[in-house]
Amino acid sequence: MKYDFDEVIDRAHDEFSFSAKWGLWAARSLDLDELPEDTICVQTADMDYRTAPEITEDLKKAAEHGIFGYSMMNNRYYEAVCHWFHERFGWDFPAGDIIYTSGTHTAVAECVKRLTDPGDGVIVTIPCYSYRGDVEPNGRVYVTVDLHCEDNYYTVDYEAFEKACAEEKNTMFVLCHPHNPSGRVFTVEELTKMTEICRKHHVIVVSDEVHCDIIRKGVDFQPLMKVVGPEGVVACTAVNKTFNLAGLAMSNMVISDPALKERFGRTFGFGSPFGIQAVISAYTKGGPWVDALNEYLDDMLAAFIDFVHEKMPRVKVRMPEGSYITWLDFTDYGLTDDELAQKFKEQHMVVSFGKGFEPTDGHQWVRMCLTSPKSVIMEACERMYRAFES
Ligand SMILES: Cc1ncc(COP(=O)(O)O)c(C=O)c1O
Repeated sequence: MKYDFDEVIDRAHDEFSFSAKWGLWAARSLDLDELPEDTICVQTADMDYRTAPEITEDLKKAAEHGIFGYSMMNNRYYEAVCHWFHERFGWDFPAGDIIYTSGTHTAVAECVKRLTDPGDGVIVTIPCYSYRGDVEPNGRVYVTVDLHCEDNYYTVDYEAFEKACAEEKNTMFVLCHPHNPSGRVFTVEELTKMTEICRKHHVIVVSDEVHCDIIRKGVDFQPLMKVVGPEGVVACTAVNKTFNLAGLAMSNMVISDPALKERFGRTFGFGSPFGIQAVISAYTKGGPWVDALNEYLDDMLAAFIDFVHEKMPRVKVRMPEGSYITWLDFTDYGLTDDELAQKFKEQHMVVSFGKGFEPTDGHQWVRMCLTSPKSVIMEACERMYRAFES
């Protein structure tokens, strides 16, 4: 393989790392000021692999340019975004439909502020990566609808979903597709049915598709807007997850529905020259790297899932259809939240606990983002085994 995903890179100590995942944030989650040397962090959707070398090479050139004044997206930027979605998904939209934001949360929060009214309800199907912080501080109501779960496989409960959409005050639905934390990639049929319900009740769909490029072998991801057309739909995309570029804070919304576009209004924003260049390089040169990444993740995720199925059968987990996120159910051990947390802490592992994703069937869930070299992930498996089975 042309790219090296096996290299173990010290993100905790390297002078130029500044990693949130491996820094103070992680240490404090263990009630410490510094992470123990041998800690394994799998709590954040951020990868421990270097980005595509093609991007880094171009960023070096951007650094050598030496002038870092106010910078804005140019035509090359917008063409690169259109190019990527055309080439990878056959989804076409004009450059004028792209709206830059500094991150997906900013994008969702802007949609909430501009496309709903104070007091309106914003629907989210749970368990879900949380958008509460984009909704409630803006004076809107966070409305949750349970997904249906069978054998760890999540599907939409259309009856409950339609009931929420039919409430007059509920005017927006934030769809997480691929779904974090379950790893579901919704089918064309599911996407169509959810949108039909939303359109019937005049509910705008904001589709967060930031994990769209990280798709497991044999799974077909389809962008919502490509499937259902632009009416009443906003798409949120980013290079952040795909290329491990979240630190450059570059996201793009696509709004192609003329009425929605008008209501959303104009935006004006500067970006960083590094962020702008990174998007151009990623979307024009990064395809082979993403393909290699997906191949690596397929193999590593399969090894992790096999280990859990064989050695820890009391833990329920499925191979995600999209993303590198695994959602593990530890309910069978009958532990309290504190006992569960203590087990991981003792093994020097930083994970995300389920309650942040609001599952209604108890909190004995753990989310792990498996984005480290395979050797590290297999060591994490051994530690889990020691903590729970020996
Ligand atoms: C589904 C989903 N949406 C949004 C985000 C945050 O993205 P951003 O850094 O672009 O705000 C994450 C990060 O984990 C995510 O998993």
